[in-house]
Amino acid sequence: MRKIEIKDVDSENVEDLINLCIPSDNRDDYLFIEGARVKKRWATQMMKRYGVFSKLAYIELEPVGMIQYQPKQEKVIEITCIFVPEKKNLRKGIGRALLRALIDEMHRLKSYFNNEYPSALVTWAFQVPGTYPQHEFYQKMGFKHMRGDDPFLLYYPLKEGISTLRKVRNIFLRKKIKERHLYFTTLPVLPAYISQKKLKNQ
Ligand SMILES: CC(C)(COP(=O)(O)OP(=O)(O)OC[C@H]1O[C@@H](n2cnc3c(N)ncnc32)[C@H](O)[C@@H]1OP(=O)(O)O)[C@@H](O)C(=O)NCCC(=O)NCCS
Repeated sequence: MRKIEIKDVDSENVEDLINLCIPSDNRDDYLFIEGARVKKRWATQMMKRYGVFSKLAYIELEPVGMIQYQPKQEKVIEITCIFVPEKKNLRKGIGRALLRALIDEMHRLKSYFNNEYPSALVTWAFQVPGTYPQHEFYQKMGFKHMRGDDPFLLYYPLKEGISTLRKVRNIFLRKKIKERHLYFTTLPVLPAYISQKKLKNQ
């Protein structure tokens, strides 16, 4: 079995993160080029503000998967995206290795939480047609439902008896997190999506 290596995203490999989410056929499409430029600017700001905000999985130096996350109130970390784009790389333990690496990192003190430990991971694991549903993946990895009426809203407690759950839930609902998710995680793909929609409506 080929070895999976997990690396934090930094200025050296940030291009790998951007390119991973762009299908190879679209690399020369100006809409994707523009989307990638915007995402790189955003990624640079995230690195400045939080240090590490994403991890990449590599197999023999080739980027094969990513996980992206950001701190929220109540010492909660929100996972905004996990993705293994190529079919040939699925079901080889890449998603699990990325999540494992993130959970390991969560056991370190965080300067953006006043040198305290994160209390929980949360995610809105919306479904992308044609892919293995990420909410099922998270549940298999030990995530729990945050609300009975939303199968996609999940959390993973990092501290025993998490007392902040209600507050976390409120943060999610108040800030309309779903829209932000779609914006950040699909950024490079968004221009093409919009243009395709326009074409369909013509
Ligand atoms: C969810 C995802 C990251 C999983 O990646 P992966 O590398 O294939 O997952 P792993 O190989 O680590 O699998 C871990 C466990 O998840 C479950 N799992 C993963 N894929 C599965 C599938 N197709 N069918 C059933 N179970 C599956 C299994 O329990 C598996 O453990 P096992 O292989 O020991 O049984 C990947 O399927 C993906 O990218 N899906 C799309 C997610 C998405 O929509 N992202 C975009 C928005 S941010």
